[in-house]
Amino acid sequence: MVTPAMPAVSFQNVSKTFPASRGDIHALSDVSFDIEQGEFFGLLGPNGAGKTTLISILAGLTRASRGHVLVHGKDVQSDYQAARRQLGVVPQELVFDPFFSVRESLKIQSGYFGIRGNAAWIDELLEGLGLADKAGANMRQLSGGMKRRVLIAQALVHKPPVIVLDEPTAGVDVELRQTLWKFISDLNKRMGSTVLLTTHYLEEAEALCGRIAMLKNGRVVALEATSELLSRASSNVLRFKTDQALPLDLNQLARVTGRVVQLPAHDALEVERLLARMRESGLTVQDVEIRKADLEDVFLDLMQGARGVPQVRGEGASA
Ligand SMILES: Nc1ncnc2c1ncn2[C@@H]1O[C@H](COP(=O)(O)OP(=O)(O)O)[C@@H](O)[C@H]1O
Ligand SMILES: [Mg+2]
Repeated sequence: MVTPAMPAVSFQNVSKTFPASRGDIHALSDVSFDIEQGEFFGLLGPNGAGKTTLISILAGLTRASRGHVLVHGKDVQSDYQAARRQLGVVPQELVFDPFFSVRESLKIQSGYFGIRGNAAWIDELLEGLGLADKAGANMRQLSGGMKRRVLIAQALVHKPPVIVLDEPTAGVDVELRQTLWKFISDLNKRMGSTVLLTTHYLEEAEALCGRIAMLKNGRVVALEATSELLSRASSNVLRFKTDQALPLDLNQLARVTGRVVQLPAHDALEVERLLARMRESGLTVQDVEIRKADLEDVFLDLMQGARGVPQVRGEGASA
């Protein structure tokens, strides 16, 4: 029955407008892309970019104003039950029922999908997510990080082929992050599960995701293999410290964090030009170094580009 070419998820011209007293909010504008079966796909974007809205539409919790979303060929609106069964969604917000134990809540969730005799898989989930010794604990007794693990177990209880995680590691400690990534990567590699992940941790996306879509103001501003995205960036970053204000032209290009200034540079010639410009303007600097650009640099480049700030290179990144 399953055609190999059928995408796991297909977003087709999805728009979402929220009516508001000060004029409509265009949360999503004509978003179209496919996620293939077995992909580990990253959806990145700053706060308010529309990531959660897109995932709510995918999960059938919010209705798109225009366009369609298909999960394994099933329309999330007109064929809700079938589409929902293919999906395991971990929401951004921690929502849980405080009256049940961890194991009970997983049994209830199984029942919701009409699954009985799910104990072996529930045990595997509890084990894999480091929840085994909390199985009998009441949900309200758990720390935020532990609740997050239960939410992930709940999303996976019906063995969905498509796993969707909306900022699952926001505000979560390093150890839990690593447990989660090991577990989800395993599902992706061993069971061929498709994973759609939104995250603020760009190094995480860089390490895990084969392809990345970047959203800005409800529009897709980049959609590429992670390696392509990285190679498209200015390859170097000139980094130094200073107590002085930068001249305007450099300031427009720079990323400034306290005393630390970072300037993107395409090649050695551009590094030289930047250094010359710094000397010329009488800037006193310390700890000058050149490092290789990473995904965060690409991201910030793209987000700045979308704001209309001049790019380091002559033509814009999206030309
Ligand atoms: N229920 C809603 N009502 C009105 N505006 C909303 C609602 N949900 C989201 N928005 C707006 O839509 C935009 C996208 O939000 P969201 O999808 O949560 O972004 P992200 O998850 O990328 O931070 C924001 O401007 C947000 O304020
Ligand atoms: Mg969000």
